[in-house]
Amino acid sequence: MHPFYKLILPLATLLAVNACSNDTDSTTEQPSTSTVTPATSIPGRWYTEEQVAAGKHLFQLHCSTCHGSNAQSIPDWKKPGSNGMYPPPPLNGTAHAWHHSLNLLRKTVREGGVRLGGQMPGFADKLKPQEIDAILAWVQTLWTEQIYQAWLTRSGLIKR
Ligand code: HEC
Repeated sequence: MHPFYKLILPLATLLAVNACSNDTDSTTEQPSTSTVTPATSIPGRWYTEEQVAAGKHLFQLHCSTCHGSNAQSIPDWKKPGSNGMYPPPPLNGTAHAWHHSLNLLRKTVREGGVRLGGQMPGFADKLKPQEIDAILAWVQTLWTEQIYQAWLTRSGLIKR
């Protein structure tokens, strides 16, 4: 073999291998959200560790007085109260929250239930869309894997 090929062939192989590994790196390192700080994605979930941490805090501030600090509500949540209205339901996967798509859950938090004859206030003027998403992310960490999968299959991330 000519000395030139002796040098250029291994070099070409090296470059090709590098090009491939660079490709893989750029796909795995892509941020999963558009936030500036790098986000830690959670396998199989639409949200990140950072959202969960923020949501846990925001839930205690805005939602826990009615829904309970672990979104467990009260044992008798299925019985209407003395005013004839239903108490705040659990959001921890034991009631119906998982029957609603992400978009519908967002809308429920934004608009509340008062306009539908319920008691929940809307949060559109108090919480930014990212904050509502963070709260819903934390709420979903309370769901069992089975409930989360059932939610995904039923409507989950479908836009409705
Ligand atoms: C003043 C009490 C109150 C507060 C505060 C409150 N909720 Fe509610 N929430 C309710 C009640 C009561 C319902 C049942 C529907 C209704 O009466 O409006 C409900 C229903 C819901 C539902 C629908 C659940 C289902 O099974 O369909 C979601 C989701 C929800 N709340 C999330 C939240 C989140 C997130 C927050 C905090 C940002 C919050 N709520 C704050 C009282 C409250």
